[in-house]
Formats: sequence, structure tokens, C-alpha cells
Amino acid sequence: MSANIIDGKAIAGKIKEEAAEVALQLKEQGIMPCLAVVLVGDNSASKVYVNNKKKACEAVGIDSISYEMPEDLSEEELLKLIDTLNKDEKVHGILVQLPLPKHINETKVIMAISPNKDVDCFHPQNVGALHTGGQGFLPCTPAGIIELILRSGYSISGKRCVVIGRSNIVGKPVAMLLLRENGTVTICHSKTKDLSEVCKQADIIVVATGKRNTLTKDMVKEGAIVIDVGMNRDENGKLCGDVDYAEVSQVAGAITPVPGGVGPMTIAMLMKNCLTAVTIQKILK
Ligand code: GUN
Repeated sequence: MSANIIDGKAIAGKIKEEAAEVALQLKEQGIMPCLAVVLVGDNSASKVYVNNKKKACEAVGIDSISYEMPEDLSEEELLKLIDTLNKDEKVHGILVQLPLPKHINETKVIMAISPNKDVDCFHPQNVGALHTGGQGFLPCTPAGIIELILRSGYSISGKRCVVIGRSNIVGKPVAMLLLRENGTVTICHSKTKDLSEVCKQADIIVVATGKRNTLTKDMVKEGAIVIDVGMNRDENGKLCGDVDYAEVSQVAGAITPVPGGVGPMTIAMLMKNCLTAVTIQKILK
């Protein structure tokens, strides 16, 4: 039996349509949702991501203002720009694309963004709210993963969930969201013993290690749901994830492809967060 392929592109399209309806309602109330996107330097992958984010804003009906700053921008200048954007009432969301050049302290920059405009959900105040079950911004990729599972008709409640990877952007927050959905969650990482045995118990496996073939067929229970967050290149330069897709899709019940799985969801959830930002700022007024 081969796995149900979870179509991230289609689900992301639906979420963007829903966001477009909300954006239209806001415009009818005289509010133009606006995202400020800050890119420092010329990291080519970051340029592609930022461009895709701007295109999505346009499609959904959210204004985007982009700040493309030189590689040698000082930390002080960046913090000053963030301060200006924090105070600008027309700007609802602020996104500083990571990674930043080495001479800039990322933590300091994340801390400088107003928690009320933090559409990435990177600020410690928003990360804390995520852990205590508060409302507001949700981290884009992790929230996208939850949407992929639920909108494909699968439940998380009571399921054994294994997350491989413990990054601040994906591993840790997706574990917290799975827990919020009443999953029983295990977080695995490079020091985990008997990874294969742990994975074999899982009903849902999220793989976010950044390493090809982290998850192979022998590690997956028949019928398990497999979510692949990876974005790597194989020996022929072809995009691939962290999962051995050809093999694992023979045993999994459902699987996300790369590309076309988790990737499109990150941007769709960012659009939702931009609209959440408008609501938060309305409440604060
Ligand atoms: N770099 C890689 N992923 C992300 C993301 O989701 N947001 C930001 N700001 N930078 C990133």
C-alpha cells in the first residue's frame, strides 16, 4: 500500500484564500494590513524566501514594505529601523529574515521587535505564551504542520507523536503545538538512543533535522503520518527532504512531499499572522 500524499500546496492555497477574505473585510473597515520585511545582506536563499513572502502578501491583499539593507549594516542601524517600524501605526507585522550577518546579534534583534508585531513568533514573550497556552501569534512552520495534519482529516489527540530535531524555529515549537492538540509527544535529537525504536512507536513523526535520509522505512510503523520539514539537495542537485521518501511512502499512511509539503504552509501561516497582528493592534488601541 502506498501513502496518502498530503498536498501542502493545495492546503496552503486554501488558507491564503481564507486570509484574503479577512484582508478584504479589514479593507472595508478602512484598515490596510501591512507587513514590513527586512532583509540584511545578500544571502541568496533568504532573497528567494523574502520574495516569496512579498508575492504571497500581494496575492492575499496585504501591503508589504521591503527593506533590503547592505551586508555591512550595523547592529545599531538595524535596531533603529526596528524601533521606527515598531512605532509606525501603519505597519502591523515586522519580519526580519534570518540568518543575519555574523556581526549582528540575532537574539538582540528578535528581542527588539515589538511582541505585538512579531509575526514570526520568535520573541520570548510570544514563545512563552505558546507554552502557557495563550492566544496570539503561532510560529509559522509549526502551525502549518498542525494545519496539514488536521485539514487532511487526521486527529492528533491521544496520538503518539515523535519530533526529530530540537531547533527553536521548528522542533521545540512543533512539539508544543502537538502537545496543545493533546498528542503524547517525544522530542528526539542527535544524542537520542535507539531513535529507530522510538520512531517505530509513533503514529505521527515530524522530521526536522536538515539531514537527508534521517528517517528510513525500517523506522516507521505501518500507517504512520510522516511530516518532512527538510529542504536539502541530493547528489544530483534535486530538492529533497529529511525523509527517504521513496521507501517511507511504501509504509506510511500519509506523507508530505518535498517540495510541495510543509514549505508552502510556512508562508500561508505568515499571512494569517499578519492578520492576527491587525487584531492585536486593534485591541491595544
Ligand atoms: N529564516 C528561515 N526561516 C525563517 C522564518 O520562518 N522567518 C524568518 N524571519 N527567517 C527565517
